[in-house]
Amino acid sequence: MILVILAHPYPRRSRACAALVEAIRDLPEVEIRSLYDLYPDFDVDRAAEQAALARARLVVWLHPLFWYTAPGLMKHWFDEVLVRGFAYGPGGDALAGKDVLWATTTGGDEWAFSEAGRHQRPFDAFVPVIEQTARFCGLNWLAPFVVHGAHEIPDEALRDAGRSLRERLVAWRATVETRNA
Ligand SMILES: Cc1cc2nc3c(=O)[nH]c(=O)nc-3n(C[C@H](O)[C@H](O)[C@H](O)COP(=O)(O)O)c2cc1C
Repeated sequence: MILVILAHPYPRRSRACAALVEAIRDLPEVEIRSLYDLYPDFDVDRAAEQAALARARLVVWLHPLFWYTAPGLMKHWFDEVLVRGFAYGPGGDALAGKDVLWATTTGGDEWAFSEAGRHQRPFDAFVPVIEQTARFCGLNWLAPFVVHGAHEIPDEALRDAGRSLRERLVAWRATVETRNA
């Protein structure tokens, strides 16, 4: 029901994304697909990915922010999986009405994402490309889940972030179950 597309090029060196994944891994009906483990040669299995999407009601795109967007294999996954006739265009309504949650971690802290900071813009300025990718495919865009300052964040704060993400997913499921009741 919840499909997590995880795109971390070095899953075993990850601290922030790994903590988020660990916080949600044991939730019921959660499928986690680690793209860099599945497709180290970038040879994405379109049919398998589309089948996973078809099973999902909520899609979570989880990755570290790389150059203000998604790591290369996540972008390649967009290119290969979200194709015409499946995700958009004539007959392309496979994703229509499903929810999507963008969950990302950033090296920059909140100050870095300000006019005076090293990234010179608020984080919101970097959201529209991913958001519109989702909306173009008929996905329902949820408020993103972002962990800033991923290098310095203390362990306890990272655990709190994991708990918040878990709560978001639990709350999402409760809403869907109420809607379906
Ligand atoms: C190639 C590359 C590009 C990055 N680009 C950004 C960026 O644009 N903005 C930012 O705040 N952090 C950037 N970072 C930092 C990562 O977002 C950060 O290392 C990651 O969120 C930490 O999560 P992890 O512990 O799961 O690896 C970049 C890191 C790498 C390796």
